[in-house]
Amino acid sequence: MTHRIGIDLGGSAIKAGVVNVETGELVGQTSTRPTPQPATPSAVAAAVAELVALYPETAGPVGFAFPAVVTAGVARTAANVDSAWIGCNGAALIERATGRACGFLNDADAAGLAEMHFGAGRGIRGNVLVLTLGTGIGTALFANGELWANSELGHLDVRGEEAEHRASARVRSALNLGWADWAARVNVVLDEYHRLLWPDLYIISGGVTEHWAEFGSCLRAGAPVVPAELRQHAGVVGAAAYAATHAGRR
Ligand code: BGC
Repeated sequence: MTHRIGIDLGGSAIKAGVVNVETGELVGQTSTRPTPQPATPSAVAAAVAELVALYPETAGPVGFAFPAVVTAGVARTAANVDSAWIGCNGAALIERATGRACGFLNDADAAGLAEMHFGAGRGIRGNVLVLTLGTGIGTALFANGELWANSELGHLDVRGEEAEHRASARVRSALNLGWADWAARVNVVLDEYHRLLWPDLYIISGGVTEHWAEFGSCLRAGAPVVPAELRQHAGVVGAAAYAATHAGRR
């Protein structure tokens, strides 16, 4: 069986899709539900169960990409979700709510895994930094194709301000910035990442990549900066791919 369900929790929407985990392609359309406010574990589990119920049994286990540090199936932080998630076993919660085996991981790591396997990072050796620019800034670090999980560089202090408070997509909308002005803020963050990590390639993912034509050419860093090939679907695809190897493992 090559199909798995990928779920990606964002600040405003939960997105789900069935993915062929051999090719990284979405099978059919994605479906969404609004992210519950507050996004407590029980409210999120109910919304995820509704989404999963849209798919037949053959769609397989579930991968859940979540905006927090996740170790051994347990959420450890909650920067942009309800603090009740801290210490919550998200894999077990989703398994109870959906009746399907679940793999639970950080959202940026999910997007990064998808891009390294199926997208802009395919076959790239060296150091790659994948960034998701959304409600926060998520980061996934790869060295020779291997993931350093839970890197959390969105919280790095950059010139006196947390990176994600300076340059997330939410900051762009909150301050009503034009694309070029916002890209200049992202460049300050990329500068700092480069000073400390020297990646060979930056891959940008998240909903904003739909607008790549408006800001991509303004981005500058010490290495090439390219958009995620899977665009806004990288999280869903990576979550499904993770389910293929980790769902139901304890
Ligand atoms: C969280 C990360 C997450 C990122 C993107 C940050 O606030 O701490 O875990 O990957 O937002 O959602």
